[in-house]
Amino acid sequence: MAHVSDLIADDIEKYLKQHEHKSLLRFITCGSVDDGKSTVIGRLLYESKMLFEDQLAAIEADSRKWGTQGGEIDFALLVDGLAAEREQGITIDVAYRFFSTDRRKFIVADTPGHEQYTRNMITGASTADVAVILIDARKGVLTQTRRHSYLVSLIGIKKVVLAINKMDLVGYSEQTFRDIEEQYRAFARQIGLTDITAIPLSALRGDNMLQHSDATPWYHGPTLMGYLETVGIEEQAQQQGAFRLPVQWVNRPNLDFRGFAGTIASGVIRPDDRVRVLPSGRESRVARIVTADGDLGQAVAGQSITLTLADEIDISRGDVICKAEAPAEVADQFECTIVWMTEEPLLPGRPYLLKLGTSTVSATITEPKYKVNVNTLEHLAAKKLELNEIGVCNLALDRPVPFDAYGANRDTGGFILIDRMTNSTVGAGMLHFALRRAHNIHLQPVDVNKEARALAKGQKPAVLWFTGLSGAGKSTIANLVEKKLHALGRHTYLLDGDNVRHGLNKDLGFTEADRVENIRRVAEVARLMADAGLIVMTAFISPFRAERELARSLLAEGEFIEIHVDTPLEVAEERDVKGLYRKARRGELLNFTGIDSPYEPPEAPELRVNTLDTTAEQAADIVIAKLRELGFIN
Ligand code: ADX
Repeated sequence: MAHVSDLIADDIEKYLKQHEHKSLLRFITCGSVDDGKSTVIGRLLYESKMLFEDQLAAIEADSRKWGTQGGEIDFALLVDGLAAEREQGITIDVAYRFFSTDRRKFIVADTPGHEQYTRNMITGASTADVAVILIDARKGVLTQTRRHSYLVSLIGIKKVVLAINKMDLVGYSEQTFRDIEEQYRAFARQIGLTDITAIPLSALRGDNMLQHSDATPWYHGPTLMGYLETVGIEEQAQQQGAFRLPVQWVNRPNLDFRGFAGTIASGVIRPDDRVRVLPSGRESRVARIVTADGDLGQAVAGQSITLTLADEIDISRGDVICKAEAPAEVADQFECTIVWMTEEPLLPGRPYLLKLGTSTVSATITEPKYKVNVNTLEHLAAKKLELNEIGVCNLALDRPVPFDAYGANRDTGGFILIDRMTNSTVGAGMLHFALRRAHNIHLQPVDVNKEARALAKGQKPAVLWFTGLSGAGKSTIANLVEKKLHALGRHTYLLDGDNVRHGLNKDLGFTEADRVENIRRVAEVARLMADAGLIVMTAFISPFRAERELARSLLAEGEFIEIHVDTPLEVAEERDVKGLYRKARRGELLNFTGIDSPYEPPEAPELRVNTLDTTAEQAADIVIAKLRELGFIN
């Protein structure tokens, strides 16, 4: 054995700098200590000479104390960091290790082989490009090999190295190698894994680790290191994906600057690109791509940037900025796969926190449609999911979020579930597709479409969404606007809060939940009416931004015109046309907007009318002028 100090780079900083321009491969290893997993990683680290001095010194000492290799360096000890693990003979945590060769840098997530530790595997694997699945040549494909492979396919890792280790113990038998490879491929095909490279190894002896072994003259594939150094990298594929920037925070140091910061999940962006912000659906153009090192002419997946846009639009944490021509979807109900990772079972109907990209929402999960037996791939009936179980469920969120199917984008399609009480991660999951019952049904193609209906009326459909406090003047102004439009020969309809609440929504009151549902229904009706080619006016308090944005998102770009009838509370209360403010002040009417229930004013409405120095008649004229400006009337 060469001496420790010969083997290490003495200046890690310099070393990293030197390797800055190399590509980075992330991979995971799956298997148990018995399969020789730690020895494989240990040897890769050792041979790449990327061991830290103290690590090596410790290993040398440990090898004498613990080693099973007669005082020679026991590579397994390099990896099995914790004494506790050694005593138990299992590896229980994800350990990330960095090493590097002349051609590439590597991060390996070493995940445990013990059957109980699905959580670690999911955590370690979530960013990996390649999975190295260890097999003991004497044992062949085991239950845990199948379990790990299933998780690998679930996580979306496409490339698998089947590392058939301990070939020295089976006399380097080609037949044994081929049999295991064939058996594994047959299983892997069923779970969609096809990019498989089987390599005969003896990690202990170094066969086919870095150099081709004389002991396996029948093997003509790559060595393990050779494969890892040359295999294609996910990062490159991600850059080709559709542009997604989950907004981490809004950077607003002063009134002149408003930037949206985050790490690009996929794709490429350049100044002047047209973008769409989800869930609102608003569009703008990229003005600048700002970074600590100055503005960029282009940014790609993996980079952390701040975008500024040409227009002032409402964007907050959790929103996703997409390119306008290839936006993500927005939905609040999904089918998904869930991997349950905690002792307490997953209970259908219980609210959990769900983190998807940079947004955190409340989520409830339905009874599993089935759970999967990962050994046989059978679908089994289930009422709940227990630790380590994997099931397919429906998921309902408290508000719509932008997403992609996990298969298309791991960052915008993968989520974790958090227990509200303990704040710990209890599950992980992958979105399959949105469940929008209406959406699914209305895909029915109709021959007479919106354009045709609008054309027959000789107009462009629109929804004029009046929002404001009770008594602000919404209904009065909307009513006048409708009269004027009617006089101009437009086809219109006015949906008014007080009226709709006598019919369609007579089952709803004024709790937060009921108001949300009230507006959701109204938004849907307005959408249908716009689809019929009408110019629709809605006059509802619609106190919450979220539901107004929902309404906006239901309509085509430019069709939704938000009009804030901006009457201060004191004025509305003083007018008190219906005497409701007085009642509310006396405590006879609960949840009254502005008194004991909030009103969230629009941040960037298309139009704001001030009813203090404008009469209702003048306000209506302002609305008509706006419609003319937007091209809805001439
Ligand atoms: S919203 O909040 O769900 O949008 P909506 O516009 O339909 O409300 O109905 C508001 C009207 O209901 C008010 O103009 C008022 O006449 C009446 N109303 C009765 N109770 C309340 C309440 N607690 N808060 C606000 N409006 C109320």
